[in-house]
Amino acid sequence: MSELINFAHRGAAGHRPENTMVSFRYALELGATGIETDVQMTRDGHLVLIHDESLQRTTGSPAWVKDVTLEELRQLEAGSWYDEKYRGERIPTLEELLELVRQAKSRVVLNLELKNGLIQYPELERKVIEAVRACALSEQTVISSFNHYSLVECKALAPEIKTGILYMEGLYEPWKYAGSIGAEALHAIQYAVRPEFVAEATAHGVAYHPFTVNEIHEMTALIQAGVAGMITDYPDRLAGLLSN
Ligand code: G3P
Ligand code: MG
Repeated sequence: MSELINFAHRGAAGHRPENTMVSFRYALELGATGIETDVQMTRDGHLVLIHDESLQRTTGSPAWVKDVTLEELRQLEAGSWYDEKYRGERIPTLEELLELVRQAKSRVVLNLELKNGLIQYPELERKVIEAVRACALSEQTVISSFNHYSLVECKALAPEIKTGILYMEGLYEPWKYAGSIGAEALHAIQYAVRPEFVAEATAHGVAYHPFTVNEIHEMTALIQAGVAGMITDYPDRLAGLLSN
């Protein structure tokens, strides 16, 4: 049970501005054993970590990620929307997070969510895979997406990197679907997970990593159901439960 992966959602998004280096670092301090983040691409082809396609909510800029260069994006400030204390935080590049994980004292599982539902970023899959391989982090990475065609492409390009199917529906026997596209994990909204599903998936060698699980009673139920990991804004809460 203690091996259950405690994925910090966008870093410790319950405590720090989401998808910033301060948030990722704090997640590890709180006991996260995994980090979930969202990957998008700038106009000049750089991989950056931000949830929304638009820069508005977290930086105040009305531009979209796809329309700005990395240099323009790095001038934006992505911390003060959350709290004035974090003014000066920038939107990280994927490379910065890979370096943090590479240098972490203990093994951290990386969950890279490709945000390519609305925008089809050219060659996003290949670029993410190259970056992961360059840091020798293939074995501790799970690539997830709501765009399942993208997961199929990732698996073809990099069979050694795990993929996770993101979904929010009551998919029928999703472990069979996972098998059909070579995915190792089901990243289901927590309400689409039942204990009997977890048992079936486990028997088929497929892991459940539900999201976004923030309440103690929800965490407890999913631990009892036997999930392999969960994605939370509060890795401290989950770490506390798992240490008991
Ligand atoms: O990967 C789990 C979760 O992050 C998916 O939803 O919208 O928070 O990226 P979202
Ligand atoms: Mg996400």
